[in-house]
Amino acid sequence: MKHESILAMTDVQTYMSQHHILQGMTLDVKIGRVTTLLGRNGAGKSSTLKTIMGLYPATSGSIQFDHQEIAKMEPFQIARLGVGYVPEEQAIFYHLSVEENMTLAMLTDNPTTRERCDRMMDLFPDLKRFWKSKGGVLSGGQRQMLAIARAMVNENKLLLIDEPSKGLAPILTDALIVAFNELKKTETIILVEQNFYMATQCGDDYHIIDDGRVVHSDLIENLEKNEELKHKYLGIG
Ligand SMILES: Nc1ncnc2c1ncn2[C@@H]1O[C@H](COP(=O)(O)OP(=O)(O)O)[C@@H](O)[C@H]1O
Ligand SMILES: [Mg+2]
Repeated sequence: MKHESILAMTDVQTYMSQHHILQGMTLDVKIGRVTTLLGRNGAGKSSTLKTIMGLYPATSGSIQFDHQEIAKMEPFQIARLGVGYVPEEQAIFYHLSVEENMTLAMLTDNPTTRERCDRMMDLFPDLKRFWKSKGGVLSGGQRQMLAIARAMVNENKLLLIDEPSKGLAPILTDALIVAFNELKKTETIILVEQNFYMATQCGDDYHIIDDGRVVHSDLIENLEKNEELKHKYLGIG
């Protein structure tokens, strides 16, 4: 089956204070798939998400999202076009309750959004349990779930999620894998993930990033058997 592309980066260059961070980033994300970005620490995975989101400026190259050029747009414009972003540092309000965190995240308050919120609470029962509790009392894993639920409550065309399993106990990572496999039935996701097990359990396609550019792309099932690539770029085995 041929999948249509929702996002295409072509030869994108990004500089931050003299540092050449993205060095010809070219990649493609297909509708309805989970595309994982893999690669060592410092390879440029987070910077790729920040550049898509307009948080880091692309000095040249093209970023096509949903048939529009977004490379020169502001983050709020990109968000309005339907790109959700869950940064590494779980963006939740610690002094507000789970309910308030969810309500504030809703760009529109209508029955569809309310339904999506209910779906998130079914997906993450811990959040339902702590509905009236402050974000600050949640565990690391529960905060991660809240951050994801906040981004997912709106109908996005593409969701960017940066290392959701970072620092989580294996049992919480397993809960996230279950949640992602439910979410991927309806959503298109770019998932940055250092946890190779999580990446293979959730991902469909992968791009390996090294020195700010893509060095290898394929179906994730083909990567599992490729010991050479795993060793060279991911430090596995
Ligand atoms: N704001 C910034 N200013 C300067 N250098 C940065 C900035 N953000 C990222 N970098 C550098 O860019 C490279 C890629 O970083 P990053 O995208 O965070 O890697 P990854 O997420 O793959 O671990 C690293 O060498 C990092 O130090
Ligand atoms: Mg990172």
